[in-house]
Amino acid sequence: TRVLSVASECAPLVKTGGLADVVGALPSALVSEGVDMKVLLPGYPAVMGALAREGAVMEEWDLFGGHANLIAATAGGLSLLVVEAPHLYERTGNIYLGPDGHDWPDNPERFAGLCWMAARVAAEGVNGWKPQVLHCHDWQAGLVPDYLRARPEARAGTVLTIHNIAFHGLAPYGRIGSLRLDGSRFNPEGFEFWGRISALKAGLVGADKLTTVSPTYAAELLRPEFGMGLDGVMRARREDLCGILNGIDEAVWNPATDPAVTPYADVAGKAANTAALRQEFGLPESRGPLCVVVSRLTEQKGLDLLIEALPALLSHGGQLAVLGSGEGWMEEAFRDAAQGGQVGVRIGYDEALSHRMMAGGDAILVPSRFEPCGLTQMYGLRYGTIPVVALTGGLADTVIHASPAALAAGVATGIQFHPVTAEALRGALVQLCDLFADREVWTRMQANAMAQPVGWQRSARAYARLYRDLAPHE
Ligand code: ADP
Ligand code: GLC
Repeated sequence: TRVLSVASECAPLVKTGGLADVVGALPSALVSEGVDMKVLLPGYPAVMGALAREGAVMEEWDLFGGHANLIAATAGGLSLLVVEAPHLYERTGNIYLGPDGHDWPDNPERFAGLCWMAARVAAEGVNGWKPQVLHCHDWQAGLVPDYLRARPEARAGTVLTIHNIAFHGLAPYGRIGSLRLDGSRFNPEGFEFWGRISALKAGLVGADKLTTVSPTYAAELLRPEFGMGLDGVMRARREDLCGILNGIDEAVWNPATDPAVTPYADVAGKAANTAALRQEFGLPESRGPLCVVVSRLTEQKGLDLLIEALPALLSHGGQLAVLGSGEGWMEEAFRDAAQGGQVGVRIGYDEALSHRMMAGGDAILVPSRFEPCGLTQMYGLRYGTIPVVALTGGLADTVIHASPAALAAGVATGIQFHPVTAEALRGALVQLCDLFADREVWTRMQANAMAQPVGWQRSARAYARLYRDLAPHE
């Protein structure tokens, strides 16, 4: 099946979060399932600079305010179509945010440009390659079904994957003309959301099929607590919605071959990495577990709860190393916590350090308030770094909680806590320290974690099946 994946980020070229990992890993994961996938990306400077260009394959005179070329290219084994449109994408800094920390004011048009080109590729094909399915990721690709309606010659099926329903891609009603949208669809059955245009809702009502990145999040999305105002839409489309769990890219995240760490194939090999990590963060030897956090520092991730629960960890001999960036007050709070000498903090984004933390940590903490899938707990599993996670979304689907029964059966891989409160997290951290002190139980858990399948195999099959069902017969 020929599939065009339409996304705003793609690892290793451009990444702000897990979306990029998933978009970057899917094409190679799907090859053995008979899927021929190209990725359509905006031509940010980071993308343009990394391309082996094959040449321009399409031209658009007015892509929401300026000229654009579609470039066919390869990079890092990926087959790409890149929208070269300097007026939309040639900007420094964050791909979504201006220097003031707010969304670029023309974000609706910037990603409408991506969707517009996706619809053209579906209608016209490039170099004889015409996708049978368009796989749209998050709100940035949400307008694809609307633009496809205007091109009956395109016969592609559409699937929209929700990586995070918190981001709606809203635009004021007044932009409807400049976004080239059909005004008759500005209503609650269409892309209207409380008086504004919602690119995500356009995709949710317009795509043939919907997926999200874990079975538990698929169920949560139907409920007001998680639906962020779109749970009604999700309920209306529940027959077309399914959860397909993310995997991790096992070529990139493999402790036995990882060039960023002292490689190891079993838990005994972690010790050297742990010692190195303590040194890197200036932490002394300790009797308790070295916990790590690699995360965006935002409300979603629940790390304010960790700041509250931290004394319980430290008083049991535990330590904490944090790598992250995000909201200023949270960065500040972690910097304050580092004063005591048992907590190390790096504010920023550092891919290589994130690998060293997975290898060196004894445990990884993910106390998210909601988590569509979450990848770092799976990296933790692969590296024998025990995940301590909130019981929600993909965190519920990927960790086997150390309940008495699971411990007795010898199958536990981590700790889950519920409800998502500082109190419950405190309990989980104390349990962690107790388990860590029991070497036999602990090494068993680590070995279980490392052996748990976290790759793409199973989910690749599920996507391939979905694409086959959607592809028009030829
Ligand atoms: P989300 O997409 O919501 O941020 P995920 O767990 O799905 O959450 O993915 C986050 C990805 O970003 C992971 O690959 C993680 O390692 C990476 N990451 C997050 N923060 C940092 C950071 N400060 N430095 C390096 N990598 C980071
Ligand atoms: C989103 C979610 C995260 C998920 C990622 C990839 O960023 O917040 O839970 O793992 O997308 O699907």
